Amino acid sequence: MHVIAPSILSANFAKLGEEVSAVIASGADWIHFDVMDNHYVPNLTIGPLVCEAIRPCTTAPIDVHLMVKPVDRIVPDFAKTGANIITFHPEASDHVDRTLGLIRDSGCQAGLVFNPATPLHYMDYVMDKLDVVLLMSVNPGFGGQKFIPGTLDKLREARAKIDAYTARTGRSIRLEIDGGVKVDNIAQIARAGADAFVAGSAVYGAGKDSDPNRYDSVIAAL
Ligand code: DX5
Ligand code: ZN
Repeated sequence: MHVIAPSILSANFAKLGEEVSAVIASGADWIHFDVMDNHYVPNLTIGPLVCEAIRPCTTAPIDVHLMVKPVDRIVPDFAKTGANIITFHPEASDHVDRTLGLIRDSGCQAGLVFNPATPLHYMDYVMDKLDVVLLMSVNPGFGGQKFIPGTLDKLREARAKIDAYTARTGRSIRLEIDGGVKVDNIAQIARAGADAFVAGSAVYGAGKDSDPNRYDSVIAAL
């Protein structure tokens, strides 16, 4: 099953609870929650307080994408405030295996995020601790950027690694893609191997604020 994860980075923050419930009511699967610290990435967004605030608005999994450095000390705060999945960038952690263990011990699913230029070998020795592999198809920091086409080859490579691992162990790992996903390129991205799709501006840019069903058609098309 394919997962659609709208990124609330592009939502109307003045009505965040409503924006969260609306996309799930329209058929989305996860809420993608972008955490930026103005240090690891050049932008500043939301933290555990906002995770806590939106938690009662949905039973759907909250997929926390940490773009922060350091990583470890913020993990328990997200686990406590209702995150279900926590992913981080391996370059931002001094001890990647330890951080993955910390996330899983806190009761969340864990994942690594690969920037466009980050090699996939970071996953090689920690597959048993991965629930999600997230490939960035833009440089992290902002919504509304263009999909980098080279990510398609990288997706195929990641898919092959994951499939080989699943054949060996029987354990599956989600392959998520983040950045520039639109109605007109999602089929091609899915063919390259992704099975979870973050879409920020494509979803939250659709429809008029006053229409309660404004996200139905874009989510159905994704
Ligand atoms: C970028 C974020 C993305 C972003 C995606 O650093 O990680 O999740 O919100 O936005 P779009 O879909 O507009 O590229
Ligand atoms: Zn993200």
